[in-house]
Amino acid sequence: MSEPSSPPRPGLTQLPAWQALKAHAEAVRGTHLRDLFAADPGRGERLSAEGAGLYLDYSKNRVTDETLRLLLQLVRETGVEARRGAMLAGERINLTENRAVLHTALRAPRGGTVMVDGQNVVPDVQEVLDRMGAFADRVRGGTWLGATGRPIRNIVNIGIGGSDLGPVMAYEALKFYSDRRLTLRFVSNVDGTDLVEKTRDLDPEETLFIVSSKTFTTQETMANAKSARAWLLAGLVNLPDENTAVARHFVAVSTNAAEVERFGIDTANMFGFWDWVGGRYSMDSAIGLSLMVAIGPAGFRDMLAGFHEMDEHFRTAPLEQNLPVLLAVLGVWYRDFFGAQTHAVLPYDQYLASFPAYLQQLDMESNGKHVTLEGQMVDYDTGPVVWGQPGTNGQHAFYQLIHQGTTLIPCDFLGFCQTLNPLVTPDGPPHHDLLMANVFAQTEALAFGKSRERVEAEGVDADLSPHRVFEGNRPTNTLLADRLTPHTLGALIALYEHKVFVQGAIWNINSFDQWGVELGKVLAGKIVPELEPGTEPDLKHDSSTNTLIRRYRARRAE
Ligand code: F6P
Repeated sequence: MSEPSSPPRPGLTQLPAWQALKAHAEAVRGTHLRDLFAADPGRGERLSAEGAGLYLDYSKNRVTDETLRLLLQLVRETGVEARRGAMLAGERINLTENRAVLHTALRAPRGGTVMVDGQNVVPDVQEVLDRMGAFADRVRGGTWLGATGRPIRNIVNIGIGGSDLGPVMAYEALKFYSDRRLTLRFVSNVDGTDLVEKTRDLDPEETLFIVSSKTFTTQETMANAKSARAWLLAGLVNLPDENTAVARHFVAVSTNAAEVERFGIDTANMFGFWDWVGGRYSMDSAIGLSLMVAIGPAGFRDMLAGFHEMDEHFRTAPLEQNLPVLLAVLGVWYRDFFGAQTHAVLPYDQYLASFPAYLQQLDMESNGKHVTLEGQMVDYDTGPVVWGQPGTNGQHAFYQLIHQGTTLIPCDFLGFCQTLNPLVTPDGPPHHDLLMANVFAQTEALAFGKSRERVEAEGVDADLSPHRVFEGNRPTNTLLADRLTPHTLGALIALYEHKVFVQGAIWNINSFDQWGVELGKVLAGKIVPELEPGTEPDLKHDSSTNTLIRRYRARRAE
């Protein structure tokens, strides 16, 4: 491991800002949002910020001006700005993997400069984007032909984790802009059901697989890719030679040319990226190839421009107006000073249905860490559980607990002022007004609640009134953008990437490794041969694992 660029800092909980926040949290814990709003009629406008086309209202948070001052002092005392500079300058801030962290270079404009180990990487990034664009245009234009001469109509991305969640989420998010003549599918799970169900109605002659894997060694992806190859070869009528078939129907996205070649994919059909792009930060690299095929190279570049605009906002906006910084410190406030275990992200847009799932990997794989950069056990809480679903569906499922449960769940509400599908009910208001009324109503209800006096003034019986009371004081952020476009989506993703970065920097953890996924992978690798039919293996696990394996072996279908 290389040395960090700055000396280790004092423990987080010893910092003056942390100590002050601790005392301050006790002082303001009992303050209600009703009082904060009553005392400051301009609060709703004042506690807002804007950047890269996104408007953030953070006034419905349990913060005073003093809270915000102290939280930003914490940002300064923890050296977040220096760390941001180190990341953007290509320093190897991912210490445990000795890597730079430069997903921001993926969206640097053509002609820009981002140095890694003395080399400007922007020309390489642009070269791959241009090759992706040429490929996407050929598929979209019907000139990329399958092995039997038919144009490709179906694109199946095979990948998992960061090589799946980003492309799926963004494809769904930008479906409005996609070429509807093409069918896009995403296969990730090693459960054979995933591949079988996603290919059962596809014609192999018109199907192209994009095997997406940074390492090209991931068990699930390799198993799916091999089975997809078998499906293709079995399904091609008048099969040309196998190599031609694979060359026409398989392309790869990876950093590992040797493994791509070993799999049998021509490296001429490989789109590369670099070890300074983490899996969960890679959807704007070649990993987004399926998305680019769907929405076209211009749409993809528009998305990159949105990412870049948010990168610039993050780099240059004062902390007080910096959207990722504000979201990050508010998250730290609830996680570390109010004991909030989870954070809900609630998109009021059906196209963003998979955004919470995407954020789960981004946030939880990044900040689910229990030791500091120096390897010391933390004595404070780090990343929360991130979850959510699109509104209004969640309102009829789990919002009850957010409103009246016993646990504090800070929420981000995401909404758009203009809908892409302006549907008007025959005799009522537009669907979009109904949708957005719910955004505003929910955050209002969560913040202000309904007191017992009000409930009883409405004539509710004394017996029933406790059930009808809403305490309120439940914090929310509201993010509003004009319209869901590729540009807006890029800005939104970058916003959360940088939020996660700032939190990781405050918590002094490595947001860019993922050692926590390794143990399970290694053990699964050992267990696979133990499941093979034949003589009973000498199982050396604990009694629970041994019993489960024996039961499976006895009952598995041969
Ligand atoms: O197991 C976790 C992980 O390493 C993720 O970080 C990554 O996004 C995913 O697996 C897939 O990895 P790859 O792109 O190398 O197949």
